[in-house]
Amino acid sequence: MTTQNVLRLTAMGSWENLANFKEPVPSAGEHEVLIAVKSVSLNFRDIVIARGKYPFQVKDQVVPGSDAAGDIVEVGKGVTEFERGDKVIISFDIATLYGPIKNWGNGLGGPIDGVLREYIAVPANAVVKVPAESTLSYAQWASVVCTGTTAWNSLYGNIPLKPGQTVLLQGTGGVSITGLMLAKAAGAKTIITSSSDEKLQHVKSKYGADYTINYKTTPDWAAEVQKITGGRGVDFILENGGSGTIKQSLEAIAFGGVVAIIGFLSAAKQEEMPDVAHFALAKGAVVRGIMVGSKQQLEDVAQFIGAHNLPVPVEKTFKFGRDEVVEALNYLASGQHIGKVCIDF
Ligand SMILES: NC(=O)c1ccc[n+]([C@@H]2O[C@H](COP(=O)([O-])OP(=O)(O)OC[C@H]3O[C@@H](n4cnc5c(N)ncnc54)[C@H](OP(=O)(O)O)[C@@H]3O)[C@@H](O)[C@H]2O)c1
Repeated sequence: MTTQNVLRLTAMGSWENLANFKEPVPSAGEHEVLIAVKSVSLNFRDIVIARGKYPFQVKDQVVPGSDAAGDIVEVGKGVTEFERGDKVIISFDIATLYGPIKNWGNGLGGPIDGVLREYIAVPANAVVKVPAESTLSYAQWASVVCTGTTAWNSLYGNIPLKPGQTVLLQGTGGVSITGLMLAKAAGAKTIITSSSDEKLQHVKSKYGADYTINYKTTPDWAAEVQKITGGRGVDFILENGGSGTIKQSLEAIAFGGVVAIIGFLSAAKQEEMPDVAHFALAKGAVVRGIMVGSKQQLEDVAQFIGAHNLPVPVEKTFKFGRDEVVEALNYLASGQHIGKVCIDF
């Protein structure tokens, strides 16, 4: 029997509890494909899960990681749309093909085992072929899975973004830089915030952000947004901060704009929380929770990225192995990164 290396979280509290196990390589079931994983893209979620702070269910001894790109090495008897050698990515929620995610029970690397392993068998329905014309790396494609779908869902999942509109991205992490790339390519004006002038300078020169704001030195960044937009506000906000930034977001949003509630990177004291209902009503704004997205949305964003060969923002890659993955998660948790951090196999 062939074995593979699999990383499992043996206890909650820290990613130091990751351990390597030798486990059998599974076979593809009738409606499954077996994928040799070539790269895994890490997310803030992987840190929160390891710390035991994820607000949704997590399986005991879970294999962490939700975002993988790889090659199909075996095709189940009932599968007709894939063949060996196809370069593919796997949808974050393997049960949601289209429409809203109905629960948090099917996300890879949380309630079910994820992708930090050499081989994974998944339902063929949850798999998306990488566009043939693409020259992007496996790490770049892996990075499209959670952050790409989330950013796409934020911009197109309800009221679709139009060219010429303005999009604000919070911070310089994976969701934000991926959102910046998609918004720029769609002809939007972009404003990005960060705690670091150095990062902002880098983002401006490398990813072409139109305007930058340091949210530490300009704590009232909504006023700065109003100045930049001539008092109109922004049409879309990718809200990564959560309760700690929602007040400023509601002040910065345009009439009829969309605040996509994605992250929970900062917390407000209850007494400092804005009257969200008042703001939403007074501005006719949409305040919309985002649950990553469906396989359909992953397909749509992959097609867009493939068609334009967009430079998916992978900042740093580490090798697969227990110690290297711990190092990569330390790096991600330190917040030094801009964009995505990946594990190459
Ligand atoms: N709802 C969903 O479906 C979904 C999907 C994906 C991710 N998420 C969530 O979205 C958030 C971002 O995820 P990620 O993977 O992009 O994280 P990440 O790569 O770790 O990015 C974190 C970055 O956010 C910035 N940040 C931290 N506090 C901030 C604040 N108060 N205001 C503005 N920016 C702040 C920092 O950038 P600077 O150093 O530049 O300040 C930091 O480096 C996380 O909370 C994650 O759990 C949710």
